This record gives sequence, C-alpha cells and structure tokens, in this order.
Amino acid sequence: MSKTAELKIGDASYQLPLVEGTENETGIDIGSLRSESGLITLDPGFKNTGSTKSAITFLDGEKGILRYRGYSIEELAEKSTFIEVAYLLIYGELPTPEQLSAFQNDIKVHTLVHEDIKKILEGFPSNAHPMGVLSSLVTSLTAFYPESLDPNRSADKVNLSIIRILAKMPTFAAWAYKNEVGHPVNYPDNELDYCSNFLKMMFALPAEKYEVDPVIANALDKLLILHADHEQNCSTSTVRVVGSSQASLYASISAGINALWGPLHGGANSAVINMLENIKKDGGDTKKWMAKAKDKDDPFRLMGFGHRVYKNFDPRAKIIKKAADDVLAKLGVNDPVLDIAKGLEEVALNDEYFVERKLYPNVDFYSGIIYRALGIPVDMFTVMFALGRLPGWIAQWKEMRENHEPIGRPRQIYVGENLRPYKGVSER
Ligand code: CMC
Repeated sequence: MSKTAELKIGDASYQLPLVEGTENETGIDIGSLRSESGLITLDPGFKNTGSTKSAITFLDGEKGILRYRGYSIEELAEKSTFIEVAYLLIYGELPTPEQLSAFQNDIKVHTLVHEDIKKILEGFPSNAHPMGVLSSLVTSLTAFYPESLDPNRSADKVNLSIIRILAKMPTFAAWAYKNEVGHPVNYPDNELDYCSNFLKMMFALPAEKYEVDPVIANALDKLLILHADHEQNCSTSTVRVVGSSQASLYASISAGINALWGPLHGGANSAVINMLENIKKDGGDTKKWMAKAKDKDDPFRLMGFGHRVYKNFDPRAKIIKKAADDVLAKLGVNDPVLDIAKGLEEVALNDEYFVERKLYPNVDFYSGIIYRALGIPVDMFTVMFALGRLPGWIAQWKEMRENHEPIGRPRQIYVGENLRPYKGVSER
C-alpha cells in the first residue's frame, strides 16, 4: 500500500500521498488538497516546496553531495570535460566516443552567428552590462530562427535549437565583452575546443598573435563543469516556469540569464570580488566586516557565504578553493585578495553567528579569484556562470517539456483591501 500523510484540520482529516525519490527523499503531494479542503500551502521563496520530479541533478545539502545524472561532481570535475558533461545533462547518459565527436561537430557547425546580430550589438552603449547584452542576444535568436518559437516541433527540430544555443552562447558572451571594451569582435575558430574558442574570441586582438594557454582553458573548463547544473535554483526554476507557458527555448534561457544576474544568485561572484577589494582598500580588517555582516541594521552581507540548500559545505566551493590555489600557482599570479578571502573564511567558520546559521563559503566565494587570474574582468564573471549553467537550463527545460508539465502558476494568500465602493475624484 502506498504511504500517505494525514493532515487534520479541526474535525476534518485528509490523506495526502507521499512521493519518494530514488535517494529516499520524501515529499507530501498536496495536489488534491485544495479541491478537497479549499486550502492552499504557503511558502514564500519556495523554501520547502518541491516544484517538480527531476532525474537530472541530485543534491544533499546536509551531506554536501552534488551529482549530475548519478555521477559525483568531484569525479566529473577531475575526469570529464564541459562538453561531455553538457551531453550527459541534456541527453541523460555519458556519450560514446562516436556520440561525443558528433555532438562536438554539430556544435562547431553552428558557432557562427548571423551578421545582423552585430548590428544589434552595435546598438548597445559600451557601458552596457554584458549580462543585459547576453540575454538580449539570446532572445534575438527567436528572430533569426522563427521556427524555434514553437517548442512542440519534432524532437530533431528542438534538438537543432539546443545545438544552436550551445554553439552560439560563447560567441555572444565574447562579443558582449568586446562591446564593453570597444574592440572589434572575433569570429569563432572551429579548430579549437569549446573553451579555447571562447577565450580566443574574448582576448585575441587584430594586431597581435593570440595563443590559448592550456592552463587557462583547462581551468575554465573545470569551472564550467562545476556550474553546469544545480537542480531547482532561482534561474533554473525561471527557465522551467517561462518554458511551461510554451515560450521558446531561447526566450526561456534569456529569462534564466536575467534571473542569474542578481547578486543573491550568479551575480554573487562579481559581488565577492568587489567586496574583497573594498575590504582591502579599507585596510583588510576582516573582523570589522564580519561585524557589519552580522549587524541586522546594516544591509551588508558577506557575499559568497550561505546557501539555500547547503547547510554543511558546498562541494563546489571545496573543489574551487583548491583549483584557485593551483591556477594561481601555475600562472604565477599573486592576488592579495586571496589572502583576504582565506582570512575572512577562517574568521567566519569560527564565528558563532555563521556557525549557528550554517553559513559556509559557496561556489562564488573563490570562483571570482580564479576568473580574475584568468584575465576575465569582474562584470564578465556572471556571464561565465551563465555559460556554465547553459546545459543545465537546457536539460531542465527539455525535461519539463518531455514530462508535459503544466504551466507554472502559484497561488497566493490575498492580504489587501476588501471590496470597497469607488468614489470619483470630486467625492474624495
Ligand atoms: N551574510 C550574513 N548573514 C547571512 C548571509 C550572509 N551572506 N546569508 C544568510 N545570512 C543570515 C540571514 O540574515 C538569516 O539570519 P536570521 O536567521 O538571523 O534572520 C539567516 O542567515 C538565513 O538566511 P536567509 O537569507 O533566510 O537564507 P536564504 O536561504 O533565503 O538565502 C542566500 C540564501 C544564498 C541568498 C543568502 O545566504 C545570501 O544572501 N548569501 C550571499 C549571496 C551569495 O553568496 N549568493 C550566492 C549563492 S551560491 C550561487 C548560486 O547557486 O546562486
């Protein structure tokens, strides 16, 4: 017999089915609650609400576990490549050598973007934030591929939209940066792998020879793997909700980019570096800034600390912290903010306020330090996150579509005025 939870309200009692996942996570299915009792559940910020059943990413915030399709993030970061991980997330299994090579070739065929996209790019002032440029260029694909507007097309056609966005996103990301610095754009080089091609489009200058440094390309590849999916976070939920109205893949991804932009989500990586710079300028007194973070009358928060689901440690942060040491050593970079970051982490990990609230460094605490060592400017950090998260967004959008999920539409408890008569201006 399937298990149920009993909910008692006054004299009435309701049997609600329990739903169990493959890792024994259990939820109460409240789908019938409203029709049976007239009640809804209230959970601002969806802190304890499951929005879907998903087979993509497993995360245990208490134990610090993160797995894509059953593979541990530690193993994938060490042994896999971003393109292989993208395939795994989107199609559910690791590719065979033939599948991987076909996937890579398909992506290479579509790296070029329509020349008219350059005109859209030129319309942006050079101080435009690259996240705004990126989301706009992604939406513009709906105009260049109008057939993509219909997500109910055949699986092959939907797959073509998927390949196109995977292929064009590095071009858009690099061009958003070129717009910012006022340099001519570079076209994709299909001789190169995914990350090397991006780096060349980003950094090559017409008057200079540019060789991709494999240390930089490998470090970027690892960072993208670590960001590739994170189950039902703010931007991914946005992608799924927007897609649930049958908006196109490109419109849904563009919405995800905008959700990621905020400093409480993907924007935290730039916010961390800005914070560390401010602490440095202020004399490096970490204790003073810790006190500010704890002061409820001060809006300052320790950026890169805390997480909605990780209440022990963020496994991505562990890998990134080590990678930061390795990359900086390999590139011979000595970044003084790394010492401030380590000092801040040490103080926070021993501070009652942070320990009590289970606030630990998250993925964004050290990623900015690596991006900076790779030569990536601060306001491009969140663009890097978007590049990494893209396969996760695609996989989640595809799963939502294939499961025929209903339109996302939460309810509310209304707390406004009751019905009152309207009075014209002269009567007021
Ligand atoms: N600095 C100081 N206090 C904090 C912080 C912080 N970074 N994060 C949480 N708290 C406190 C918060 O004030 C609250 O205290 P109290 O119980 O006394 O009211 C308690 O800890 C719980 O915080 P919350 O805001 O209710 O937790 P949340 O799950 O709603 O928010 C968070 C999670 C990540 C938005 C938040 O921890 C935060 O703002 N962190 C800084 C921004 C950041 O680093 N974001 C990147 C997240 S990782 C990348 C990603 O996947 O998006």
